[in-house]
Amino acid sequence: MRTGLLLFRSCMSFGRRGLLHQHHIQLGSIVGQHPPPTWIDFKSLSSTSLSTSFFDAPDPPKSHGTPVFPDIKFDNTNKRDDNHASIMRNSDAQAVFIVNGSSRGIGLQFVKSLLKRTKGKVVACCRSPAAADTLINIASEYPDRIQIFPLDMEDQSSINTFASTMARNYRRVDALFNVAGILGDGKTTSGPERSLASIERFWMEKTLAVNVVGPTMLVKALSPLMRSTGRRSVKMITTSVLDDNQTDQVEIALPTGRPPTVIANLSARVGSISDNRLGGWYTYRLSKAALNQATRTMGHELKRQGTWIVALHPGTTDTELSKPFQGNVREGRLFPVEFTVDKLLSVVESMEEHHSGGFYDWAGKALPF
Ligand SMILES: NC(=O)c1ccc[n+]([C@@H]2O[C@H](COP(=O)([O-])OP(=O)(O)OC[C@H]3O[C@@H](n4cnc5c(N)ncnc54)[C@H](OP(=O)(O)O)[C@@H]3O)[C@@H](O)[C@H]2O)c1
Repeated sequence: MRTGLLLFRSCMSFGRRGLLHQHHIQLGSIVGQHPPPTWIDFKSLSSTSLSTSFFDAPDPPKSHGTPVFPDIKFDNTNKRDDNHASIMRNSDAQAVFIVNGSSRGIGLQFVKSLLKRTKGKVVACCRSPAAADTLINIASEYPDRIQIFPLDMEDQSSINTFASTMARNYRRVDALFNVAGILGDGKTTSGPERSLASIERFWMEKTLAVNVVGPTMLVKALSPLMRSTGRRSVKMITTSVLDDNQTDQVEIALPTGRPPTVIANLSARVGSISDNRLGGWYTYRLSKAALNQATRTMGHELKRQGTWIVALHPGTTDTELSKPFQGNVREGRLFPVEFTVDKLLSVVESMEEHHSGGFYDWAGKALPF
């Protein structure tokens, strides 16, 4: 029990001190691949307070190891002007914000917060749109801000089809939030494992597929639509399910004068190799460590096309993922999802080129790899 508690505190620290594929859903109905865009506004959000004053967050814990990136400072400390990239991005009604893993938890909150914080289009992705009731309810309010698409991180054809649809229907992507992820509950799944003996190949492969392979392949597929510098057009191979999966090469004119585009990969502090002092949680830890490495590597390459990318640790947040372990979280240490996403968006909105490739917590503090 003591070992489990210690593991949880460290791993979820997650905070020691605080720790179709070919189809769209439109207003709840499944239709073909290229429907006329039906936007769903989100006026009802005005009643959703994103104020974080109700939650007094603990200071982020100290990490073992040395961060190699500078902290991202935000709120009053960050100097902004009218040219600040995030101000331009958030006020552009044509900007496209994608949330992968938006059926529930942190991803669902990203959708709500983006609708409130930006003027752009929000593309909400999940495995089973028809079953994503909350998302459908949000989306059904108004038709001009949000569309829901199927996307499964374990299925490469789903990723390819989604990228094709984005190329054909939107022709640009301004921000990608890679939120989808799995941890397991330690009862119905072998992960998160307490020991080497409990590792199962199936769960390890599935965790890697959802937590790192899928998100990396999604960045690969969408990055041409995220170019903000250099060439003004890109060629993309697209497939049409309405046309017997016919493949086409299409030339896409990218928007001119837009600010750098951004990618946030939802990681976890336990993905830090230098901060690993307790062991355990093999598959989750190694999937997030790999995601951090992918983020840093992509950061070098994507800078050249004007795309910035970071890996983010959200802090222990009240979602289904953390539910099996919440009994071990000290009172006042479990973050409300609104708080978490408000902070993560502030980190992303405040990042600059020299932060790209880094690994950050919800407070903008650089974490060691
Ligand atoms: N909550 C925390 O305390 C915490 C702490 C550290 C890091 N994180 C990270 O934050 C991210 C979000 O976590 P959360 O707490 O919001 O988890 P959650 O409530 O369990 O939601 C996970 C999301 O991932 C989606 N997903 C699962 N498998 C998928 C697949 N194969 N393809 C596409 N989507 C898939 C789920 O969709 P379905 O509804 O279809 O299953 C769901 O939308 C994860 O990457 C997690 O590792 C969370």
